[in-house]
Amino acid sequence: MNKVNVNKLIRFFTLVLFIGTLTAFMIPQNQKKGAKWVIPEKYKKMENPYKGNKRDLKLGRMLYSKYCKSCHGSKGLGDGSKALQLKTLPGNFSTAEFQAYTDGEMYYMTAVGRDEMKGYSKKIPDEENIWAIISYLRTLKK
Ligand code: HEC
Repeated sequence: MNKVNVNKLIRFFTLVLFIGTLTAFMIPQNQKKGAKWVIPEKYKKMENPYKGNKRDLKLGRMLYSKYCKSCHGSKGLGDGSKALQLKTLPGNFSTAEFQAYTDGEMYYMTAVGRDEMKGYSKKIPDEENIWAIISYLRTLKK
C-alpha cells in the first residue's frame, strides 16, 4: 500500500467516526426523561370499575392502537413511529416501575396528561373507554 492510499484511508475513517459521533449525540440529546408526575390524591385511589371485563379489554386494545400506539409503540415500549419526534421520552409500559402505578394514576396520566402527553378526556370522553385502555396497559407488563 502506498502513502497516498493510507492517507485516503485515514481520512475516510475520520469521516466515518465524525458522522457516527454526531448522530450518536443528536438522537439522545433530543429527548429527555419526563419529571416525576404530580398526581392529585383523589385520582391515586380511584379503582378501575371495569377491571377483569373481557369486552373492555378488547375495546382497550382497539383504542390503544388507534390513539396511543403511534407514540408508545405496539407493545408500549415507547418506540412508536412518532416517538423520535418527541422532546420527552414516552416511557415504557412493560416495566415494573410503570406497572407499579395505581389504576387511578394511569387514569390521570391518560385523561388529564401534561405537555406532549396531551390528556385524552376530550378525544375519549367516555370514562369506560379510558378505563378499557388502562386494563389494556396492564397486559403490557413483561
Ligand atoms: C403524541 C405522542 C403520544 C400519544 C399519541 C400518546 N402519548 Fe402518552 N406520553 C407521551 C409522552 C411524550 C409522554 C411522557 C410525558 C412526560 O413525561 O411529560 C407520555 C406519557 C404517558 C404516560 C406516563 C408514562 C410514565 O411512565 O410516566 C402514560 C400512562 C401515557 N402516556 C398513556 C397514554 C395513553 C393511554 C395514550 C393513548 C390514549 C397515549 N399516552 C398517547 C406521548 C404520547
